[in-house]
Amino acid sequence: MNYYMAPMEGLTTYIFRNAFHQYYGGIDKYFTPFLCNRHMSSREKNDILPEHNSGMCTIPQILTNRAEDFLSLCQDLASYGYDTVNLNLGCPSGTVVAKGRGAGFLAYPDKLDAFLYEIFSRCPLSISIKTRIGMEQESEWDTLLSIYQKYPIAELIIHPRLQKEGYGGIPHVSAYKKAEEILSCPLCYNGDIISPATQEKTLTVLPGIKTIMIGRGLLKNPLLPSLLRLENTTAGDAVSTLKDFHDTILEGYLSIMSGDMNTLYKMKDLWTFLGQSFNGADKYLKAIRKARTVADYRLAANAVFRTCPYLPCQEE
Ligand SMILES: Cc1cc2nc3c(=O)[nH]c(=O)nc-3n(C[C@H](O)[C@H](O)[C@H](O)COP(=O)(O)O)c2cc1C
Repeated sequence: MNYYMAPMEGLTTYIFRNAFHQYYGGIDKYFTPFLCNRHMSSREKNDILPEHNSGMCTIPQILTNRAEDFLSLCQDLASYGYDTVNLNLGCPSGTVVAKGRGAGFLAYPDKLDAFLYEIFSRCPLSISIKTRIGMEQESEWDTLLSIYQKYPIAELIIHPRLQKEGYGGIPHVSAYKKAEEILSCPLCYNGDIISPATQEKTLTVLPGIKTIMIGRGLLKNPLLPSLLRLENTTAGDAVSTLKDFHDTILEGYLSIMSGDMNTLYKMKDLWTFLGQSFNGADKYLKAIRKARTVADYRLAANAVFRTCPYLPCQEE
């Protein structure tokens, strides 16, 4: 099985990805959060710079519905040495969808087809796609599959939910199965893999899966790829490694962000996931959320590592 790290805006930055690669690894491809400007901002450039991604297979992701912008960004990315990019057709957020981008693009199959025709005929890079199965109903998937069938997609990552479902409800495994029957390109499954048990359950209904992308499960429990690969890990080591991983991310943000508050926002976002793996941590998690200085933040975070039992594979 191959495992990919899902792109997660604001969370899986190059600081996070490097720390992850250093302490955990077990990831075959890392996808960057989406780039959405025709010209990359300095933050976006830093995220994709080869020297910030060394030793990792990193795939930059693009969110746009304009072929010219996609092609222009690809030209830039090619100059940094990238040979593959990923197109985001899955983002469900209201503001993105309202502009007909991300999952919002799925509502306009003719426009999407014309866009794909343009980029696949003119882009010098390989193109993989990350997609949902439609906006409102599963029947939209048939039309989308007939479009995807026409292009040499390097890899199709399927998050088998509709836009209207956000990240809730149960993934539509039948839609993934249909893609396996119809498409000849490599496929990757994405959605709700949070433990070896959920992987096993998914593989029982979709035994053809060869690649899994993990997002929230990995943020909640960075050991997840190792556990899914059935590698041996012990709880004692797990907490000290997690603390080192956390401290590396904290130092990384402190070294690049202006003002401690920006670093604290980043770390607090991480704890919304990481905090779920600790028992009885509510008091300290509240202190983390309230921290206004790095010193207060460190006190609260260290208390979690020191005193709360780490139970990373609890099912929700
Ligand atoms: C906070 C957050 C940010 C995300 N940002 C992106 C993004 O930049 N690009 C993208 O394709 N998907 C993004 N996603 C979706 C994830 O990549 C993934 O598809 C989703 O979380 C489902 O996988 P999971 O169940 O393993 O978490 C984001 C999801 C969350 C919760």
